[in-house]
Amino acid sequence: MSDLGPRLESALAFLQDANCLADVGADHGFFAIEAIKRGLAKRAVAIDDKPAPLGRATEHIAAVGLAGVILPILADGLPREVACDTVAILGLGGITIAEILGAADLSVVTRLILGPQSEPAATRLWLEQNGFKLVAEAFVRERGKHYQILAAVKGTMTLSEAEREFGPLILEARNPAFRAYVAKRLHQLENGRKHALDAVRKDDLERRIAALKELIR
Ligand SMILES: C[S@@+](CC[C@H](N)C(=O)[O-])C[C@H]1O[C@@H](n2cnc3c(N)ncnc32)[C@H](O)[C@@H]1O
Repeated sequence: MSDLGPRLESALAFLQDANCLADVGADHGFFAIEAIKRGLAKRAVAIDDKPAPLGRATEHIAAVGLAGVILPILADGLPREVACDTVAILGLGGITIAEILGAADLSVVTRLILGPQSEPAATRLWLEQNGFKLVAEAFVRERGKHYQILAAVKGTMTLSEAEREFGPLILEARNPAFRAYVAKRLHQLENGRKHALDAVRKDDLERRIAALKELIR
């Protein structure tokens, strides 16, 4: 495993022959740098809406001699004039990711790589309602936290509520990280049920426990 860690490694694994990679919320810039170094993208733009992280990315890009290949851009979201075939948005909330996608011109985009830190259902609902289908998903644990990484291409899909939350392909694979996450959540909910004082709360927790158990049956 590289210094990038399993979360960004999973996202890199979902890149496919990008002519141009737009990394929105690039921060340190390492995702775009590694994509270029590994030959997964020919050129890239590293976008951030804050000068300090963009400055860091610019320094890192220059330090590895990629200043002519990765263009740093200070912008909120994906500027409409950036015409890249692959867009990565990693480490932002699921609602923010959906808002960035909704405001962007995605006409030349063929692949999205998304890593919602929270509210993954909001990102998947946006994909479902805007002509994208999931082609790969990963569920990884990094420094005690769990992350979902999604790859989507143009197409259609219909998801259930559970699939929006956890991902149809994650639910199909039910890898050890996912099983460990569900086991931990079950333990928390069962503890809550044990100490719940009113019947409504107890019923709600029982319903959620049953739904979670169903996911790893
Ligand atoms: C938590 S960091 C994630 C960095 C990197 N993508 C990763 O996954 O490791 C989020 C970065 O996104 C930037 N950001 C937040 N909202 C943004 C927006 N609307 N447009 C562009 N960048 C944004 C922040 O300034 C920050 O540098």
